Amino acid sequence: MSHSITIKKRISEFNNKISVAGDKSISIRWVLFSSLADGTSKAKNLLMSEDVIAALNAIKKLGIKISLKNNFCKIYGKGINGYKYKKNLQINAENSGTLGRLILGLLINTPNPIKLIGDKSLSKRDFKRISDPLSKFGAAFKLKNNKNLPLTIYGSPNLKPIKYYEKKGSAQCKSAIIFGAMRTDGTTYIRAKKSRNHSELLCKYLNIPIKIKVKKNYDLIKLTKIKKIRTLNYNIPSDISSSAFFIVLTALSKSSSILIKNVNINPSRTGVITILKKMGVNIIFKNRKIYKGEIIADIFVKGSKNLKSINCPTKFNSKAIDEFLVIFLVAAKAKGVSYFKDLAELNQKESPRLKWGSKILNKMGVKNITTANSIRIFGNPKLKINKKIIIKNYLKDHRVFMTSVIAALSFEGKSIWHIHNKDSIKTSFPNFLKIINDLKK
Ligand code: S3P
Repeated sequence: MSHSITIKKRISEFNNKISVAGDKSISIRWVLFSSLADGTSKAKNLLMSEDVIAALNAIKKLGIKISLKNNFCKIYGKGINGYKYKKNLQINAENSGTLGRLILGLLINTPNPIKLIGDKSLSKRDFKRISDPLSKFGAAFKLKNNKNLPLTIYGSPNLKPIKYYEKKGSAQCKSAIIFGAMRTDGTTYIRAKKSRNHSELLCKYLNIPIKIKVKKNYDLIKLTKIKKIRTLNYNIPSDISSSAFFIVLTALSKSSSILIKNVNINPSRTGVITILKKMGVNIIFKNRKIYKGEIIADIFVKGSKNLKSINCPTKFNSKAIDEFLVIFLVAAKAKGVSYFKDLAELNQKESPRLKWGSKILNKMGVKNITTANSIRIFGNPKLKINKKIIIKNYLKDHRVFMTSVIAALSFEGKSIWHIHNKDSIKTSFPNFLKIINDLKK
């Protein structure tokens, strides 16, 4: 049974410095790249969440040893061909789309079939977007309903390079193909709609033969098979997606301020900052530095008195894909009608998030018009919520839980929020509520 929390009061003003959890996208990629390296890789500040533990368990099943002490982790890689493929192997990706999808790229040459399973939420998500390109390399798949988990992957010893056009702007899809290409003789070409580029940056840092041509709306990626990967020692920066909850909590206050330390501000992830700045939020990056191709900075945010609506350009969609639920809260308090479009992908996440965004706003009494791929939010700078709001019966989705907590703490009025499924935060940001409670002190 999952627990719920009750929030009856707005948070009082705060001026604090915080550190949020490690970057989830980079943590999972560190695990997967290190599992292929020749020798021992070390990570500091690895995100200690269920998704990352699931990644560590997955590589352990493939015969790779690890050691873990708090958030310091070592992976003892045995080289690019170092996996042990036991008979009847089953890998559990639990709630993690990133793990479930990326790891398939590494398994396309398995000599024995491998079954991939996940939790209820992951089992509803689309895996055809991965099995389609990986089948072109020569792997075969059996999927539930031709699309979902559980699936079984049948590897091939005769892989062929592919040419693939990734049209969804999915970094998970792009990364699975990059991993597949690393195992395949010849040159693979990917034309990829823009999405987060951590996998490409890691390939470059590791001297993996990747070539990237950056075009306006897509990237052209060229990659060949590798024989060896060097070890990867990584000091994982904080996650901008986890920071976003605190950025919005501060933005919706009257005069609070916050400094969020050492966050990865890779430009393929900073859509939330660009969008919120356009809506009138004061955000500044401080102490900017480059680390292994990524950009790291402290993020300073101040409460905003005049929030403006936005007609959000679709070019920001993939850069803010995980942050829209909290952005919708800012739109709820902004003056005017905000419009977010071409967002069908949001309903493909841990829960159908466009629908949940609309549901939360409806419960708050915020008018919105929502379709299968867009939402119009009628903002109200004087919004007061005076009722009991219950958030429950959603698939395990950490971002629905955390967005509801931020809403409960941010809007005026006499509301009582009961927010279920508290355990969902364990997938990405286990100390979220502790940081909130520390801010209240
Ligand atoms: C991720 C990519 C995004 C994002 C997810 C993490 C990644 O998913 O929503 O939380 O680490 O590659 P898509 O690739 O499905 O857009």
